[in-house]
Amino acid sequence: MDNSLLESLLKALEFSPENNELRFQIAKIYLNSFNYTEAEKHLISLLDRDNKKAYKYLLAKCYYNQEKYNLTEVILEELTENSNDIDHLELYCSALLKLENHAEALSIYQTILEIDNTYYNPDFESVFKLAVTSEVDNFIDEDALSMLKKPDVNFSDVGGMENVKEEIDLKIIKPLLHKDLYKAYGKKIGGGILLYGPPGCGKTHIARATAGEIDANFINIGINDILDMWLGNSEKNLHEIFETARANKPCVIFIDEIDALGANRNDINKTAGRTVINQFLSELDGIDSDNDGILVLGATNAPWYIDPAFRRPGRFDRIIFVAPPDDKARESIFKIQLEGKPTEDIDLKQLAKKSKEYSGADIKSSIDIAIEQKLLESFKDGIPKPLKTKDITKAFSKMKPSTKEWFSSAKNYALYSNDSGLYDDILTYLKIKK
Ligand SMILES: Nc1ncnc2c1ncn2[C@@H]1O[C@H](COP(=O)(O)OP(=O)(O)O)[C@@H](O)[C@H]1O
Ligand SMILES: [Mg+2]
Repeated sequence: MDNSLLESLLKALEFSPENNELRFQIAKIYLNSFNYTEAEKHLISLLDRDNKKAYKYLLAKCYYNQEKYNLTEVILEELTENSNDIDHLELYCSALLKLENHAEALSIYQTILEIDNTYYNPDFESVFKLAVTSEVDNFIDEDALSMLKKPDVNFSDVGGMENVKEEIDLKIIKPLLHKDLYKAYGKKIGGGILLYGPPGCGKTHIARATAGEIDANFINIGINDILDMWLGNSEKNLHEIFETARANKPCVIFIDEIDALGANRNDINKTAGRTVINQFLSELDGIDSDNDGILVLGATNAPWYIDPAFRRPGRFDRIIFVAPPDDKARESIFKIQLEGKPTEDIDLKQLAKKSKEYSGADIKSSIDIAIEQKLLESFKDGIPKPLKTKDITKAFSKMKPSTKEWFSSAKNYALYSNDSGLYDDILTYLKIKK
């Protein structure tokens, strides 16, 4: 990236923050240099002032590259309505494929071919050949009942995160198991926990493990599910999910990417419509009055976009920072992730020492990379070889810790929009505040 150009543009922007064209150029530079969080920040600020399609498309690209496929889809669904822009349709199709909504992806792909019959994309081609031969119907989404899962993981499969386990235990597991005791002491129960932090650090994982820990059912609602409902008869379906949970207690309801629903800063909130959000909030409130074996956990990478209405008592009234794993936690994540794999003389302490700033997901990928390498070697003589410490440390050199980028934007929110110390944990983690 040409840093001096970017620096001078940023300087210029300081003097004319209202200059949309300038800010747009800056966003593009960030996007092209893979700094998606910065690009996102500028695009959202642009969209606050002007609802231009070009801004939305670029924001969708940012989301796509950050693997926020649900958000990508929401934006592109709107953009591609009554539009023949191939770029938009193409990104939309890719996002739908990532979300495994093959039926919809196929229909978008067909639209592209109608517009341009010379269009060829080998990625799409290979998927849709498969889809056509194995009946598109199979790809239709599951209904609420089949969303219900019994996870086979529990707290022992989660490395570190001791404070999170403790909070979940005190705030939602214990009240569930000892309801009468809590009542006897007049202690209020209910309300959900919102987990926030950099991607890949175990938010989804621990939600699933919470259900496993108490042998409860688990419903994972993606923001996409909720927004999908809004397209049809949303309120009723959202209600159905909560009813399904009530009929299958104990049940953990997990809502991922909740920032998209509670967003107060970008236009997705307007797109989704207040009705779905209000319906969602009243379902949450309903759980409060009938707190009987339903636990609610939410997760987000961007808590600062969440409407404060979500944080009222009885809703997500406990907010927990899920930090990247420390040395000890990384050691135990390596141990957990290597379990059952062929290994020899693994030095967990050394692995932990050399993987500073890596997330749990990064650790998992480093092991995957090392295994792929071992496989290749084994093909040569047909003899399987165990994984060793240095196979994994070698894999580190092929990857960057993925948590850093999150902190570079989180830091600003924690410093400048830290309502009543909500994000103090971030500052403590960064050693900015004790
Ligand atoms: N603390 C942890 N212990 C064990 N595995 C972890 C941990 N954190 C992350 N992982 C692994 O990384 C994967 C991605 O983590 P995930 O929970 O999806 O992150 P998040 O929801 O915070 O983005 C998990 O499926 C799990 O395999
Ligand atoms: Mg997750």
